[in-house]
Amino acid sequence: MRFKLAVLPGDGIGPEVTTEAVKVLQTVGGRFSHDFNLQYGQLGGVAIDETGVALPDDTLKMCKACDAVLLGAVGGPRWDDPRVKVRPEDGLLTLRKKLGLFANLRPVRVFPVLVDATNLKPEVIKGVDLIFVRELTGGLYFGRPKRQWRTSRGRRAVDSMVYSELEIERIVRVGFELARGRRKKLVSVDKANVLESSRLWRQVATEVAGEYPDVELEHMFVDACAMRLIQNPAYFDVLVISNMFGDILTDEASMLSGSLGMLASASLAGVPQAGADIFGLYEPSHGSAPRRAGLNMANPLATVLSVALMLRYSFGLPREAQTVEDAVEEVLEEGYRTYDIVSEGKIKVGTKEMGDLVAKKVGG
Ligand code: IPM
Ligand code: MG
Repeated sequence: MRFKLAVLPGDGIGPEVTTEAVKVLQTVGGRFSHDFNLQYGQLGGVAIDETGVALPDDTLKMCKACDAVLLGAVGGPRWDDPRVKVRPEDGLLTLRKKLGLFANLRPVRVFPVLVDATNLKPEVIKGVDLIFVRELTGGLYFGRPKRQWRTSRGRRAVDSMVYSELEIERIVRVGFELARGRRKKLVSVDKANVLESSRLWRQVATEVAGEYPDVELEHMFVDACAMRLIQNPAYFDVLVISNMFGDILTDEASMLSGSLGMLASASLAGVPQAGADIFGLYEPSHGSAPRRAGLNMANPLATVLSVALMLRYSFGLPREAQTVEDAVEEVLEEGYRTYDIVSEGKIKVGTKEMGDLVAKKVGG
């Protein structure tokens, strides 16, 4: 089969981790006879430096003409001044919005061999296998008004948490569909004791639940959920959550797997269903880690595992996806670790070496 893929390496460690993920993808292509046609584009700080905007028109056009997008990371201290007009992150947010990528899937699995890499007790994280479904194109990130201004009594600023019924319905549906194919437990996260938008969220989730009698729906306040994720993470199967809350809790949840460097993510433009190939953008959940950039230090596994999600959701290649995931697990079982997950007695390797090891396994 032939696929067209847009690659946006971005800033910081982005180029290094995408290079390794592409290496693994090309090896999959070689082994299973698929042709991945790659096109490269600019996004984020590099795009600002070259073109003055974070998301150049060419990049958006190229992404639209492809079957999927692979992204590294954006941002860095060079573009972080709060007074600047263009920000690398705006490029990513606009891209998510313009490509209609409303459903962000972030699976958190504890690899048994990485139990010693986490800060939590082994008995707490044992058996953790959960997936966040984060709403990605609405809520506090995009709501209007959103601005800062001066008044006679000092400066003021506002952000707005806005959700429409339709936005909530489609994301909750993704949660139910995924739960249906898993352990059939969906936790809908909100702050309905305080926020009006959360009360609507809870009502709509309850309404959609009527169509999924086989899935058990539980509502949970976001603060309680933050606590439960540390106290008893194995409790969770699928969680559906708004944009801002999801941003926060997915970083928290990544620590269950030992490192943010292990957390893959898929941002989809539709509801994932068996047999359907959905346009998606795939990126590690971590940032651009500017201090690690160029040092061959970064963990490429979050990006490699994002490629597995791409094979599964956008290319309809579950066997190939599994091959990549198995390869990652085997390399970890053999004791290879990047700096972020290394522990006593393990073999420390760099970004490139980790990519080579996984690619070698994938090649069979
Ligand atoms: C994420 C990141 C982004 C977000 C940033 C880089 C804009 O933190 O994907 O979680 O907040 O969504
Ligand atoms: Mg985040």
